[in-house]
Amino acid sequence: MITLNVNGKEHALDVTDDTPILWALRDVIGLTGTKFGCGKALCGACTIHLDGQATRSCITPVSLASGKKITTIESIGETEVGKRVQDAWLALDVVQCGYCQSGQIMSASALLAQTPNPSDEDIDNAMSGNICRCGTYPRIKAAIKNAAKA
Ligand code: FES
Ligand code: FES
Repeated sequence: MITLNVNGKEHALDVTDDTPILWALRDVIGLTGTKFGCGKALCGACTIHLDGQATRSCITPVSLASGKKITTIESIGETEVGKRVQDAWLALDVVQCGYCQSGQIMSASALLAQTPNPSDEDIDNAMSGNICRCGTYPRIKAAIKNAAKA
């Protein structure tokens, strides 16, 4: 058994220590907003926050989340920065198919929480691991700048 704190709630889970957080979230807890893309930390679709740090949940075992706070796309809008990011995403119609966007928003929110006025280079560095097959990169960058100004 392991206890995970997810979005402010404690969950006692009957999973092995090496279970990736992604599968604990999706298959055991039932939070399916965090997406599976590559399973190898290459696409960013599975990005969550672990104590505020953008983290690839597909390769991070639940054992590393013990005693830490997990935040997912389901609750990022309850944070001040997350709300600004989501509002900017809506205002600029960032989303196309949507599959990558949970991860994009989680990476953008972690960036702005740590760097409130990011340069283009800061944005590129923070977002370079989040792949968007629909090519929404220009809108993502513009929305991050809008959220920083808001
Ligand atoms: S599914 Fe985790 S980085 Fe692609
Ligand atoms: S919006 Fe389709 S993959 Fe990014």
